[in-house]
Amino acid sequence: MAEVVLAVTGGIAAYKAIDVMRILQRRGHGVSVLLSRSAERFVTRGTFSALSGRPVGTTLFPDDGQLDYDHLDFARRADIVLVCPATAHAMAEMAHGLAGGVIGTTLLAFDGPVVVAPAMNPRMLAHPATVANLATLEARGVRIVPVSEGLLADGDVGPGRLADPVDICDAVDAALAPGELAGVRVLVSAGGTQEPVDAVRFLGNRSSGKMGWALASEARRRGAVVTVLASNVALPREAGIAYVDAPTAADLHRETVARMPGTDVLVMAAAVADYRPAAAVQGKIDKSASDAMRLELEKTPDILTEVTAARRPGQVLVGFAAEHGEDGLQRAREKRARKGVDVLVHNDVSVPGIGFGSDDNAVTIIGPGDAETTVGPTSKAACAAAIVDVFAGLVTHT
Ligand SMILES: Cc1cc2nc3c(=O)[nH]c(=O)nc-3n(C[C@H](O)[C@H](O)[C@H](O)COP(=O)(O)O)c2cc1C
Repeated sequence: MAEVVLAVTGGIAAYKAIDVMRILQRRGHGVSVLLSRSAERFVTRGTFSALSGRPVGTTLFPDDGQLDYDHLDFARRADIVLVCPATAHAMAEMAHGLAGGVIGTTLLAFDGPVVVAPAMNPRMLAHPATVANLATLEARGVRIVPVSEGLLADGDVGPGRLADPVDICDAVDAALAPGELAGVRVLVSAGGTQEPVDAVRFLGNRSSGKMGWALASEARRRGAVVTVLASNVALPREAGIAYVDAPTAADLHRETVARMPGTDVLVMAAAVADYRPAAAVQGKIDKSASDAMRLELEKTPDILTEVTAARRPGQVLVGFAAEHGEDGLQRAREKRARKGVDVLVHNDVSVPGIGFGSDDNAVTIIGPGDAETTVGPTSKAACAAAIVDVFAGLVTHT
């Protein structure tokens, strides 16, 4: 059974946190409660300390009252943090990493699973700021318990009601359950390499890293120990995932090869330059020097072929092929055979609205064996789930 830190923020649904606490306790969990200043306007510290039999965290500073805890006690103790109800304000604080109170401080000092159960007026929920904050939290691996619809305390009707307490507790238990990839070491490359032409210019590609990010997030959600080799990715990074920057093909090659002995599954989602300038010019190339310019390019090392040749038994290798046009799928099938990877994910980058840079994708997962699975067009998160389904089935648990 787990230690749950229940962070209650200042919404009208704060009283429902009492039910949530009771259900968690009945399921055998230890529950410690944090109250925001606004939450204390709706529910009292006395109720929660009596029902939990533990100190209730309300402030960081001893001169605000008698403190029977240290400001990091709750983060140290927690196996999981549940924010319930989560106000729009609390989610904005979380999205921006603000640590102005005991809840924000606990969340920043905690790197385990976090579940958020929002509750608010439908217009507050639909505001672009709230929508963006929710997306940021989700991208970081925070589990959001969807709100329900109906008549709200303020008289408005629509989505925004706190989810059913039983569903919230189920989400906590699901987040605590060891995933199917528990302990599996997954290495994901993401983004696009940039090959220096001179001190300020580079040859690059349009990969944003979103697909690799979604794969890393999904693998982590299922319990994997995930390392991401990030090639020039400007996306928020998720707690609980290790990130290593690998801006060039040479960096990616070095980091991948060095990490292969400690990797169970390699997912090469990064778009790696096939060619790079043979020699990067020191300083900045001066355009007055000549009207035309020739760049001499050399081939970069083929990382996938190299690691496939050196693979140890049981290692699972997943490659990507961003192909353009009609024959792309056939080329991807051939690429899989040539590279000797278990699974190759084909995406057609000629289709507008999917692939590079966008939030959506459509992929054909080729392998294992003769299997082919087509997914989408759908979100990159859904594509990632389908890809992880396939490689999770290939992992041999020792
Ligand atoms: C009567 C009342 C009800 C409120 N209900 C909610 C709510 O359900 N959801 C919400 O996001 N904010 C609600 N608010 C606004 C929050 O209390 C306010 O944004 C506060 O700053 C939240 O602080 P906290 O997130 O630190 O608890 C309500 C305010 C009042 C006065």
